[in-house]
Amino acid sequence: MLKVAQIQLEPLLGDCRANNSKIKSFLDQSLDADLIVLPELANSGYNFTDRDHAFDVASGSECINYVNFLTEYAQENNVYIVSGYLEKVKDILYNSSIFVTPGGDSGNYRKIHLFMDEKSIFEPGNIGLSVFDIKDYKMGMLICFDYLFPEIWRILALKGADMVVHPSNLITDNAYKAVPAQSLINGYYVITTNRTGTEGDITFCGKSFITDKRGNVISSMNQFDEGINFTEIYPLLSRNKMITAGNHVLADRRPECYSDLCD
Ligand code: ACM
Repeated sequence: MLKVAQIQLEPLLGDCRANNSKIKSFLDQSLDADLIVLPELANSGYNFTDRDHAFDVASGSECINYVNFLTEYAQENNVYIVSGYLEKVKDILYNSSIFVTPGGDSGNYRKIHLFMDEKSIFEPGNIGLSVFDIKDYKMGMLICFDYLFPEIWRILALKGADMVVHPSNLITDNAYKAVPAQSLINGYYVITTNRTGTEGDITFCGKSFITDKRGNVISSMNQFDEGINFTEIYPLLSRNKMITAGNHVLADRRPECYSDLCD
């Protein structure tokens, strides 16, 4: 069993100092969990005016230190954490997720499928898809709009993911339909932690949720409130991929019929 805490919050656009302090306060209240999952771009906010704006925010020391802060926090408090964050590598920006562990290890994911104005701010992810160890379980990471692209969810299933964590800044209702389907189709849990609030002309949908391997929503939050949602999940259940007595969601695939997908 893995106890998950989803922290649904409203970051302040561009104010990494305020966001880090709010995140620390929520983390302190989540320590009953094994795994804590925060939204996309939790430390920076989302709706940047343009790339220069995002670059300025990413260049501030509070933003740069975020991953170190989480790394130390996970070690000191014996907890696993996943958070979306604004990543800057030299003069390139990525919309990324970091995974930090009690043992001081970390894993990174860079959002592969960029949404609307993100295309003029971030480079698309270039480090592929990995599955990370968390206790006895395997965890994949995706970010928000990645929900629409079944290929990457399947790759994570084929790599052995028992669950996928999915930090988000959802703006439409599409993910509430697509994510349960990806859970069912791949036979694993999905933990979608979304944000709340409004930035300029964008209002975020909140309603963070968790789905099980049958696509059932087993836990959900409301649209507007910041808060923490604790849910117990059983990732080993994801290892039984039988969907009927005679059908296995991975073994019944026919890759020899799918070659058009590679175009
Ligand atoms: C999104 O990818 N933030 C909608």
